[in-house]
Amino acid sequence: RPLSDADAVFQSYGRCCRSERFFEDFYTHFMGSSEAIRAKFVDTDMPAQRHLLRAGLLWLIMYARGAPGGKLRDLGKSHSRGGYDIHPSWYGLWLDALMTTIRSHDPEYVPELERQWRAVMQGGIDVISGAY
Ligand code: HEM
Repeated sequence: RPLSDADAVFQSYGRCCRSERFFEDFYTHFMGSSEAIRAKFVDTDMPAQRHLLRAGLLWLIMYARGAPGGKLRDLGKSHSRGGYDIHPSWYGLWLDALMTTIRSHDPEYVPELERQWRAVMQGGIDVISGAY
């Protein structure tokens, strides 16, 4: 029986997470995509941020697998206009940077995973950016 999108993504994420370089490369791609995004992280402790993203990505995947969205609503609040002020239009760059990183880190990457990752991430992104 074929894996569901969320299960295929969960397994792909497990393969990506074997290397800490996955998170370093993600922020290199993401911060390279816009000067405004780079500016948001000038005072950030990046080793800590990489660890926080490791958990954050897991919350997005678990949400797609049916977990409640409490953690994502917390992220929605911290990223909203009253917090880090992350405009909803920036999440497309976030997702593009993520896909670039996955393509080069998942040793079992196949093109179908691009559609699966984007579909699985979108539900959680909608929760976070919807709180803007
Ligand atoms: C902080 C996840 C999108 C900028 C965080 C934290 C997590 C996280 C887990 C730390 C916890 C917190 O402070 O609430 C995510 C996820 C995203 C996302 C899962 C996508 C779905 C973005 C985007 C930006 C951004 C698009 C745009 C620049 C920041 C900033 C911080 C942060 C500036 C605080 C950094 C600091 O403490 O100095 N994010 N984030 N995030 N995120 Fe995001």
